[in-house]
Amino acid sequence: MFPLTIIICTVIFYLQCIVLASDTHKRGPRPLVLWHGLGDSHSSPGMVEFAGLIKEVHPGIFIHSVYIDQEEDKDRRAGFYGNVNDQVALVAGQLASIMELEGGFDAIGFSQGGQFLRAYVERYNEPKVNNLITFGSQHMGISDIPICGRYDLLCQIARRAARGSVYGEWAQNNLVTAQYFRNPDNYATYLEANKFLTSINNEKEGERNGTYAKNLASLNKIVLVLFTEDKTVVPKESSWFGSEAIPGDDEVGMQQRIGQRPFLLNIQRRDDREIIPMRLQRLYTEDWIGLRTLDTRGDVILETCEGEHMQVGDCWKPLVLKFVGGKA
Ligand SMILES: *[C@@H]1O[C@H](CO)[C@@H](O)[C@H](O)[C@H]1NC(C)=O
Repeated sequence: MFPLTIIICTVIFYLQCIVLASDTHKRGPRPLVLWHGLGDSHSSPGMVEFAGLIKEVHPGIFIHSVYIDQEEDKDRRAGFYGNVNDQVALVAGQLASIMELEGGFDAIGFSQGGQFLRAYVERYNEPKVNNLITFGSQHMGISDIPICGRYDLLCQIARRAARGSVYGEWAQNNLVTAQYFRNPDNYATYLEANKFLTSINNEKEGERNGTYAKNLASLNKIVLVLFTEDKTVVPKESSWFGSEAIPGDDEVGMQQRIGQRPFLLNIQRRDDREIIPMRLQRLYTEDWIGLRTLDTRGDVILETCEGEHMQVGDCWKPLVLKFVGGKA
């Protein structure tokens, strides 16, 4: 005979389990997604340690560390090589498949992981990001390919390849850093060749995507952390949506914008290069990506950490206390 009672009991028990499980992550802290930086991987000792520290601050928090490949070596390699648009799409699928994240999450991006998470917000955002915190990210790109550690062969080969023909078809599809390389001396070529940063920054007239702006503006907060002594990210102000002036374009535009907004005249100089701060960028003044909307609402938080690129030290802690792990 068929043991009907046992099946019914099992079904009831199973349902109880599901109810218990979904209750837990409704009541607990909001989950967190991390995206590591260049040269790192999703499960490196540093990332595991960082996740552990956050769990001490927010007991019971669910944390997912984004990966392109679950194998650590391959994941590290994917930080140097690959098509960033494809990587972001892959991660969007990954995040959508994780049950614990379905009610939304906060996100922390380290270095390039920061602009990649921003791309996720603008293009996908299902499930939805609540607060986005980026540490030393290159939101306005880099004017030089980052210098590598002396023994970091993977990095050195990528760097050499990128410097050779950074706007070539191959580099733009296969070298990660090339896909956010934005050299003001060669701006027209960048606009033409680049398919990642030009896109998430809605830089191309006639191709601006309103969904990107709407999605970014739907964040609760965007927290932008700049490392005060950052010599890896050129210019370091990229972490705050600053960039080196584009000869011609920015100079003319700047005169007009400064005329309109004289209170924002805090332009800095570095190596004789003029740095256009966030609030004087056309991306901001014309609100291409919703950044001005967020800032007008008071939801762009500009923070600094003392030190060289990614010397996070204890700097993360007040930020994680304040912007991570709220009630889901
Ligand atoms: C704009 O972005 C959204 C979200 O990624 C996408 O679904 C849509 O196709 C894009 N629109 C255009 C015109 O490319």
